[in-house]
Parts: sequence; C-alpha cells; structure tokens
Amino acid sequence: MDAQVKKQVLRKLTYGLYVATAKQGDQAAAATVNWLSQASFQPPLVMMAVKADSGLHALLSQGATVAVNILGADQKGMAETFFRPTQLEGNTLNGVPFTPGETGAPLLQGVPAAFEAKVVHSYAGGDHTVFVMEVVAVHLYDPEAKVLEMWDTGWFYGG
Ligand SMILES: Cc1cc2nc3c(=O)[nH]c(=O)nc-3n(C[C@H](O)[C@H](O)[C@H](O)COP(=O)(O)O)c2cc1C
Repeated sequence: MDAQVKKQVLRKLTYGLYVATAKQGDQAAAATVNWLSQASFQPPLVMMAVKADSGLHALLSQGATVAVNILGADQKGMAETFFRPTQLEGNTLNGVPFTPGETGAPLLQGVPAAFEAKVVHSYAGGDHTVFVMEVVAVHLYDPEAKVLEMWDTGWFYGG
C-alpha cells in the first residue's frame, strides 16, 4: 500500500466537529474530535475514537460520562480552543462557561445541540481507542442551526 495514496484516500472521508467533555470531581477533560458517528438506533449508540494519551481517554477509561457538544457552522474558534490542554477554572473549560448536564458531564454554553452518553464498550485498537457509548440525554438549543463540517475548516485529522 502506498502511504501517500492511503493518506489521500482516507482524507476523503467526511466528518463533523464536536467538543467532547467529561468531568469527575475536580478533574475535567475536553477535546475537539471528528472521529465520531452514530452506530445503532436501538439502543442509541455512538462511537468515538479518542487519542490514547489524552486526558479525555483517561477520564472515559475511569467511567466518566461524556457530553458531545455539537458545534455550529460559525464556531470554528471554539473548535480551536479545545485543541489545547484542558483548563478547568470555576464553571469554565478553557474559558468557555459550562453547566453540568443530567449525568454531570459539562454542557458548553453557546452550542446549538449536545448529548450526554455513557461508555458501554471500548476497543483499544491502535493509537486511538474506540469508545462505544449509549446516548442517555439530549439537548437541543437551536434546531435551525447549521453545523460545523470538517471540510469547510481546511483542517485534516485522518490519513
Ligand atoms: C482537526 C482536529 C481533529 C481532532 N480530532 C480528534 C479525534 O477525533 N479524537 C481525538 O482523540 N483527538 C482529536 N484531536 C486532538 C484533540 O483535539 C487534542 O488532543 C485534545 O484537545 C488535547 O487534549 P489533551 O491535552 O488531553 O491531549 C483532533 C485535533 C485536531 C486538530
């Protein structure tokens, strides 16, 4: 397999952009992710690939629930905020205010929609672990909002 072609082919996959957040006690983790998809209707499952050496991976492995904050088309800046290491200060993550959801996972202010999920399986396949998670709570703030798509940002995470 040609490595350059592999990269070009895998970069043809399409993605959204989300901020995944988790909190347990005074430990919090947040990361912008694109490797995320629904994986079952009943029960409602989603799968997310999380970098093995990240703070989010550590918290999900310890049993924390997660909030997936779905970014609006105009929230590229918020995506950038969560490429950086997580800073929890009061009720803010990297300066963005949050409120605890039904499961305690942080819901970021200003996003059009979010859901909360609990991990039901994990597959440590490579440099990322695939977490399969059941959706247990949903939040819809702006039903008409367009969402941020990876292709429109000019960024790549894949290949
Ligand atoms: C465009 C882009 C997409 C990303 N997608 C993912 C992803 O799907 N899964 C993941 O674990 N990290 C992803 N990352 C990396 C995380 O955003 C980053 O590692 C994390 O916010 C930093 O947390 P840490 O300091 O705990 O590692 C992506 C980064 C970029 C620049």
